[in-house]
Parts: sequence; structure tokens; C-alpha cells
Amino acid sequence: QEPAAVGAGSVKQQLSKLVTASLRTTVPEVEVEPMVEVCTAKFGDYQCNNAMGLWSRIKGSGTSFKNPNAIGQAIAKNLPPSDIIESTSVAGPGFVNIVLSNSWVAKRIQDMLVNGIKTWAPILPVKRAVLDFSSPNIAKEMHVGHLRSTIIGDTLARMFEFSNVEVLRRNHVGDWGTQFGMLIQYLFEKFPNWEEIGSQAIGDLQTFYKASKHRFDGDPEFKDRAQQAVVRLQGGEERYRAAWNKICEISRNEFDLVYKRLNVKLEEKGESFYNPYIPQVLEELDNKGLIKESEGAKVIFIEGHQIPLIVVKRDGGFNYASTDLAALWYRLNVEKAEWIIYVTDVGQQQHFDMFFSAARMAGWLPDPKEKKFPKTNHVGFGLVLGSDGKRFRTRSTEVVRLIELLDEAKSQSKSELLQRLTENGKIVDWTEEELEKTSEAVGYGAVKYADLKNNRLTNYTFSFEQMLSDKGNTAVYLQYAHARICSIIRKSNKDVEELKMSGAISLDHPDERVLGLYLIRFAEVSLAPFTESFLRHLFHEA
Ligand code: ARG
Repeated sequence: QEPAAVGAGSVKQQLSKLVTASLRTTVPEVEVEPMVEVCTAKFGDYQCNNAMGLWSRIKGSGTSFKNPNAIGQAIAKNLPPSDIIESTSVAGPGFVNIVLSNSWVAKRIQDMLVNGIKTWAPILPVKRAVLDFSSPNIAKEMHVGHLRSTIIGDTLARMFEFSNVEVLRRNHVGDWGTQFGMLIQYLFEKFPNWEEIGSQAIGDLQTFYKASKHRFDGDPEFKDRAQQAVVRLQGGEERYRAAWNKICEISRNEFDLVYKRLNVKLEEKGESFYNPYIPQVLEELDNKGLIKESEGAKVIFIEGHQIPLIVVKRDGGFNYASTDLAALWYRLNVEKAEWIIYVTDVGQQQHFDMFFSAARMAGWLPDPKEKKFPKTNHVGFGLVLGSDGKRFRTRSTEVVRLIELLDEAKSQSKSELLQRLTENGKIVDWTEEELEKTSEAVGYGAVKYADLKNNRLTNYTFSFEQMLSDKGNTAVYLQYAHARICSIIRKSNKDVEELKMSGAISLDHPDERVLGLYLIRFAEVSLAPFTESFLRHLFHEA
């Protein structure tokens, strides 16, 4: 038995190493990154595309190569011997087509089967990452945008975790700010016995928010009291803290219902957590000369942006940006995260661009050109639209409650299942529990998959009918394929472990080879989101 491929990296990574070695022999005078891609022609499985670019760099410099094709020939010839490669050929302007060895692919898949998919995890050059995702706001609606953030963020977190990176999954909830004065004061006045009553009695927080806002806007005396309440909350007065906690808890319970249905783990570290760090962080930025006065506010001017980044409002209060700066400081210095990723809709891109720039100006982050960590990224996504092409809502004005949306997905998949399972008015073969579990897996799975399969940056139209379809590229279809495979295994009447060990995989039929190549690409597909050019650079240096 071959040793497991732990640490070997994806096929691309392994081929890139060989190409790097060959390039050093072929053109020792120039430093160049290996360019290895999946082959687009039928003459190979992968291809090396370095020759053309190299030619334009070295022609006329007295090189002995006559043309790019000759460079390609030399790259192919100088590849170190390896059991990965069956053969190579050089096409046109020097593309080196690489055919993988059948037996090597078969062995690798066997290895994957016996030792687990984990052995094919991509190698990432970081140990710890922060994933800031979901992050709804207390007492405001958690909307489909937060659902997208939850699904995309959880997926990225899983990919990092799969790649052996420790992930701090952070729910950066909006749990701080002046609106809490209003909410707390309203709670005191509307529910004098607020300490005794359960969250049930307070009811829906969105309605509560609206009512308190209405009061705030229409009643100047209430407004005064609300503003005092903010001061007392921020001063740490116990009764105000307790009321704040109660309000947060009601929201939290609601958010948790969504996370539970989706099986998403998150650790809440809301805006309030970073509030105490803001003054010292701003002081540091001020000492570095970054903070300027502008129309009564404190701001940071950023090259390439018309308006500055406001970090202290005119009324002296902190804001979204100052909180994010403090949170970034904390993540870099206390949590020692090397990669910090924020998942929100694309509408917030400018905010992130600006505060990342501020962090670079402060020397917290290296210049991106240096291709170094620590590093921040904003992972944006498009809007979810309804069938009318507008922002997704159930009825014309009301927003969709996420829980109801998920419950609807489950209930639609359940009725579909029931229809298929019913014979003469009786459910065939299935227990109630099986029915529940399956409709959840299918329903929630459909929502997740529909979200992920769409281009992240463009808007997409939400449609239960499409996402629950058993035809085409849907979760149901995938789950069905999986169920069929399980059924084949079950019908073999053998233990899975036993099956894994019996017999060797061979890829004799052309279709088997195609399938084998797909499987073996798993690591590089799961690496794809991480392969920016500077990361490629790091991989090949390693
Ligand atoms: N609460 C924000 C919103 O609902 C998202 C927060 C994203 N995270 C961050 N660190 N800014 O839009």
C-alpha cells in the first residue's frame, strides 16, 4: 500500500512542482511562475503554458531557443522523472500537453477511498482564519441577504477547515449603536415588568423596533429619554445592560432557529464586543497621522475615494467603520488570524475597500503586491430577487421571514415526497421520522445548493420550483445520485469497510478514466477560491 498523499497537494500543485524544476533547468536566467492548467485540448489532461510568455521575455537576448515551440520541447524534456506523468507532447507555440499515468490516478483514487478524502485536502499557507459571516442586526430583520451570507460563509469555513486551517467563525451581529437607547426606553415603558416576562410576551422584535421608532420620531420627550438611555447603557449601568441583553437574546433565539435548521455553527462576537477597543485603536491611527477633522467629524482620507472614511461621527459617537477597524485590530493582534474574510452583499464593497486601505495605511496589512499575509478579503454577493425581478419578498411589501422560508422549502419537499410515496392512501415503507429527515435534507439542501451554484456576484431569482426540481443541476438530483450509490452498496450485502479494501481500482474503460480524473481534481476544485496569483506563488515556493 502506497503512503497516503497527505501534504502532497492537488494534481496541479504536484505538476507545478515538476514544472518549476524543469523551468529552472530550461531557463535558469529568468525567474518564472509555473503555469499549469487543466488541458483544454484532447491531447492531454493538463498543460503547461509557460513557453509563449517566456519566449517574449528572452527572444533577442542571445538565447539559443529558436521559437516558443523549442522552449516547450525543452520544458517537456527537462521535467524530472515522476510516476505522475505518462507522456507529454508539445503543440503549436509550445503548449506542453501532459497525460497523467493511468495507474497513478487509480492509485490516488484508491488512496482517497481507503484513507479518506481528507488526504486530498489542499495545502494552504495559513494556520488560522477569521470568517465573518451571517452577521444580522439585532431587532432588525434577518433577510435573505443574511441567508446568503450564512450559506456562503459556512461553505468557505468548511473548505478552510477541510484544508486544515483553524477557522474562527464570527457572527458580527449589529448589537450596538444609538438605536438601543430607543429600544431599551421603549421596553421600559411598554413592558414595565420586562424583567419577569419571557421573550414570547415581547413578541416579534421587528414589530417592536418599528413601534419604538414610531414613538421616537413622533414624541420629542421620548426621544430625550431614549438618548439618555444610550448614555446610561454605554456607561455600563446594570439595568440598562440587562435590558440590552434581553433584547439581544430575543433576536439571538430567532437567529439560532435559522442556524439550527441549516446546521451552521457560528460564534457570536457582536459589534458591542469591540466597542471598548475603539478608543485605543483610533489613538494608534491618530498617532500615525491618519485621522483628520472634517466638518466636525473625524475621518481618514483614502486615495482614490471621493469621500473620506468617517471614524467618529459629529456627535462624537463611533460607527460601523470604527467598529470594523477595532475588530480588525483585535483579529490581527489578539486572535492572530492570518486571513480575515468578510461575507456581505456587494453593496458594502466600498466600505470594505476603504477600511482595508486604512488598515494598510496604518501598516497593519502588507501591500497586496507583496503577496504576503496577513490578508483581508471581502467576499461579496448579489441580491436575491423574486419572480417579479425585484428584491425578494413574499407579499408585495413585507419581507420574508427566513424561518418561514426554510419551513416552506421543507414543506414543499415533504408534499412532493408524500405524493411519490403514497399508494392507495397509504405511505409506502417510510416511517414518519424518515419522512421528516428526508424532507429537511431535501428542502434545506435545495436552498443551500441553489444559493451556491449561482454566480456569487450576480443577482439570482429565488424559485422553489427550480430549486426543488429533480432534473438538472439541483441538490435533489445530487442527493438522489448519492442515495442510489448507497443503495448499490447496500445491495452488495457487504460491509463498506470491507468493500473499500477488497480489490484494486483500475481505469481500463475510457469513461472510468474520465470519472477518475474528475475525482482526482477534487482538491483543486476545492482550492479554486483560494488560487489568486499570489497564492499560487506561495504554493510553488513551498
Ligand atoms: N451587520 C451587517 C449587515 O447586516 C453585516 C456585518 C458584516 N461584518 C462586518 N465586520 N462588517 O449588513
